[in-house]
Amino acid sequence: MMNNHSENSNPGKTKRRDFLNILLGGGFIAWLGALLYPVFKYLEPPEVEEVKVSNVKIGAVEDMQKDSGKIIKFGNKPVIVIRKKSGDYIAFSAECTHLDCIVQYRKDYGQIYCACHNGRYDLNGRVASGPPPAPLKKYGVAIKNDEVTVFEEAS
Ligand code: FES
Repeated sequence: MMNNHSENSNPGKTKRRDFLNILLGGGFIAWLGALLYPVFKYLEPPEVEEVKVSNVKIGAVEDMQKDSGKIIKFGNKPVIVIRKKSGDYIAFSAECTHLDCIVQYRKDYGQIYCACHNGRYDLNGRVASGPPPAPLKKYGVAIKNDEVTVFEEAS
């Protein structure tokens, strides 16, 4: 004769044990969350506020050699300023339109070059070859009293 009496001898005790298990399970999840939250918060990149500027003075006309380029900060955005062989200044966003790598002026190509995936732009900012899907955003350059100023053009 089997005795099932011991298995469910105290249904209240079983329910209490289930409740305890649920409580402990929830506690474990809460503990894990408390442990991991600061780690994820630390790894998350901080929000970078956009710094609004309307123009940036970059120096005297002769400060840059002809047929050269340099990256300047326009607020918190990188802008490439190029002094062409002719001596004219041009400026574009330095963020490649493919995956945001910083472009550079290559005088051996006479083009703006992105080393990440071999993207190239002509000196009008248009895509010459490679994966970039769109032209570089153009910035204006003004020269007044021998001082070169880069400014954001109205779009
Ligand atoms: S990020 Fe410039 S070509 Fe890919």
